[in-house]
Amino acid sequence: MSYFPDSPSQNLHAFAFSHGRAEHSRMAHKPVVIWMTGISASGKSTIADALDVALRKKGRMTAIIDGDSVRGGLCRDLGFTEGDRDENIRRVAEVARLMLEAGLTVIVALISPSSASRHCARSIIGNAFFVEVHVDAPLETAEQRDPKGLYKKARAGLIKHFTGIDARYDLPVFPEVHLDTRALSVERSVETLLDWLAHNHDRT
Ligand code: ADX
Repeated sequence: MSYFPDSPSQNLHAFAFSHGRAEHSRMAHKPVVIWMTGISASGKSTIADALDVALRKKGRMTAIIDGDSVRGGLCRDLGFTEGDRDENIRRVAEVARLMLEAGLTVIVALISPSSASRHCARSIIGNAFFVEVHVDAPLETAEQRDPKGLYKKARAGLIKHFTGIDARYDLPVFPEVHLDTRALSVERSVETLLDWLAHNHDRT
């Protein structure tokens, strides 16, 4: 019997490596995956970057996985159909899981528009290690910000399947953390996340 029921190969057997999640219980900061979801220009990458700096100051080892950068490498064969986005999110969740197992706090910034794909990421990583953060900005606000000019292109029909324009974004129903980026500065968003981690995931 394969240890990986979803894999096409029936001949895989997971080795019981010595270093595993059990060892994390001795660490001051429990490694977690902080999964930021939100539409383009909601503020995911900016908050991810500021959070990364703050977590490192507190002694956490961190890694950032950002949509735009994985799409230039690991996921460069993928586009923006629902199926391709699901595969993008699945791959990132698998990489995040490996990093988590190495003891890192992983900050993911992906639109991850469908609740099914976020649910899939949560189950790959494990519920106890998954912190879903809704980086929330209404479409009008994101469209006004439009730092990369992508909404303008999407409105002009130059980009297809653009999230919020002609592709859907499922609002998270019960994210662990909700950040209203119209009301909160980047610093306040980071404080909100640090407070949440201090109450739920730190031992110091
Ligand atoms: S996801 O939907 O699969 O999670 P991801 O976060 O990796 O998306 O990539 C989003 C980034 O790709 C955006 O920040 C934007 O720069 C770029 N992009 C290009 N085309 C699209 C599109 N059709 N919809 C959304 N983002 C797009």
